[in-house]
Amino acid sequence: MKISASILAAQITGLAAEMPGYKKENIDFIHMDVMDGNFVPQISFGEAITKEVKRLTEIPLDVHLMVAKPEDHVHKYFEFKPYCITFHIETTHFAVRLAEEIRKSGSKVGVSLNPATPPEAISTILPYLDLVLLMTVDPGFYGQSFVKTGFEKIEKIRKMTQGYGIELEVDGGVNESNIKQLSDLGVDICVVGSGLYKTGNPNEQGKKLKELAKG
Ligand code: DX5
Ligand code: ZN
Repeated sequence: MKISASILAAQITGLAAEMPGYKKENIDFIHMDVMDGNFVPQISFGEAITKEVKRLTEIPLDVHLMVAKPEDHVHKYFEFKPYCITFHIETTHFAVRLAEEIRKSGSKVGVSLNPATPPEAISTILPYLDLVLLMTVDPGFYGQSFVKTGFEKIEKIRKMTQGYGIELEVDGGVNESNIKQLSDLGVDICVVGSGLYKTGNPNEQGKKLKELAKG
């Protein structure tokens, strides 16, 4: 299991001291939750903070755009060469064009679905995707509970994406109690916010979560 640390749940001002100590074997990606106050009511951070974070660590970035009109924003993240750039299927009528633009930039293409969005919403664009970021909470906050329908939706998406070489990433409410089950269902990457940061030692907790996932 790969772990993507959601710094939304961290004390942002403490990251300069803390982040250089993150080890790649414990934390695989830094998950950047970009929120615009439009697609989601909250505003988090954007390309300026992403640039600072990029300076602090060699761990690749995993950019999660929770913004209306992602077409107007994706290009701002190309210079950071993220592992992946993910947009929400609910936010665009031009998913194919957007996916092609991201792929051309050298990052993997991710698409995200809110809990209420059916898996079928992405069934016709699978050849354009490298990763599906399945939300298991409504986006906007860290620290929410994993939705009741999360596991069955993971199974459906796993089946649907078979043969396309698509990675499956789960975001929201992941912690010590469910990471093994997620691993057993074939999830490749777990985003973890509060489940990492509330322990006070995200590096050690990343290691522990990976061990728990192995069982
Ligand atoms: C929610 C964000 C998540 C969130 C995860 O809008 O996309 O990445 O920060 O936090 P936890 O793990 O606490 O649910
Ligand atoms: Zn996220």
